[in-house]
Amino acid sequence: MIEQILTMIPGPTPVHPNILLALAKPTVSHVFPAFVAEFKAALKDFRALCKTTTGQPFIVAGGGTLSMEMGVVNLVGPGEKLLVISHGYFGDRFVDLANSFGIQVDVLRSEWGKAIPPQELAKKLAANTYAAVTVTHVDTSTGTISPVPAYAELLRGRGEMFILDGVCATGGIDERFDEWGLDVLLTAPQKAIGAPPGVALCLFSERAMERRRARASVPAYYADILRWLPIMQDPGKYYSTPCVNEIMALAEAFRMINTEGLDARFSRHAKIALAVRAGLGALGLTVFTAAESRADTLSVILLPVGVEDLPFRTGMASRGIIVAGGLGPIAGKAFRLGHMGNIAAGELVTILGALEGTLCSLGVAVTPGAAVAAAASFLP
Ligand SMILES: Cc1ncc(COP(=O)(O)O)c(C=O)c1O
Repeated sequence: MIEQILTMIPGPTPVHPNILLALAKPTVSHVFPAFVAEFKAALKDFRALCKTTTGQPFIVAGGGTLSMEMGVVNLVGPGEKLLVISHGYFGDRFVDLANSFGIQVDVLRSEWGKAIPPQELAKKLAANTYAAVTVTHVDTSTGTISPVPAYAELLRGRGEMFILDGVCATGGIDERFDEWGLDVLLTAPQKAIGAPPGVALCLFSERAMERRRARASVPAYYADILRWLPIMQDPGKYYSTPCVNEIMALAEAFRMINTEGLDARFSRHAKIALAVRAGLGALGLTVFTAAESRADTLSVILLPVGVEDLPFRTGMASRGIIVAGGLGPIAGKAFRLGHMGNIAAGELVTILGALEGTLCSLGVAVTPGAAVAAAASFLP
């Protein structure tokens, strides 16, 4: 039964019943005062989550890829140069996206599972000038977290726009828009924020807004932030019908984040990540991502020798847990486990139990109870 399935892929993540209730409210007019108030609350809370007092928020029906497109096309024109730091599949998506708009792309691509050292970025910046640099905070294909504060130091005071993709980080890992000098933070609700998919979320710095205003037009209509700006300043206005239910759900997700508190939420994610990895270690499993670059929001785990992807994921599903397969060069060799959003110790124990049962059924020698015991000391 679908109700009994725990979706532990790296997004969408399980949605808390409070948020589902907000989603299930009657669909009202986009100018209905109670909805407008919720929209305003979501815009305000989005800024608070990303620690900005100056960033201009945008909440637009769409997905993370739309927010990537909004970040790039509003700031980088055809023929201009973009530097992409790619730690996997989603970093590479910026390359594709930029190519689609005739933008010249230079790529700093890491080996999968490792992050580009800041010195490599420093070398690129010393030899080139770019209109913008894109960084994926956590690449969902490799589980790699970028050293964002170190990159931010290198980009500080320069002309390049700093565009950060927070899709697999925002709400689970600290992001400091003002302190880091970000120009765009783009993200989506369906991962560590814990809301259902359906909106593109972006923040633009004052400098980025000026950069957009300096262009007479951009090769976009729906993704043009200047068309959306009046609505973000007064959500009672109309440009294109907002997804009212998803925005009400997002507002509720932000309220839950506020109630938990940002520090408590980030620390819960850090503890759960430690607990997951202790449990995986006790099962003899190896995390694919380099130890110094592992994100708190998901784990990418190598399948043990002799265990194939399909029987493994089918075995997990039969125990009520859905995990994701590997992408790109690790397709069929690894699986991806999301541990972000509104999850707690209970889910973790269930996942570790399912892992133990599945591996055992596939002939892997495991010590019963060892994973949960190893994880227990880290659990919040
Ligand atoms: C890091 C990252 N960026 C961008 C995206 C694209 O988001 P969406 O699938 O909502 O378009 C994803 C999706 O998983 C992602 O993980």
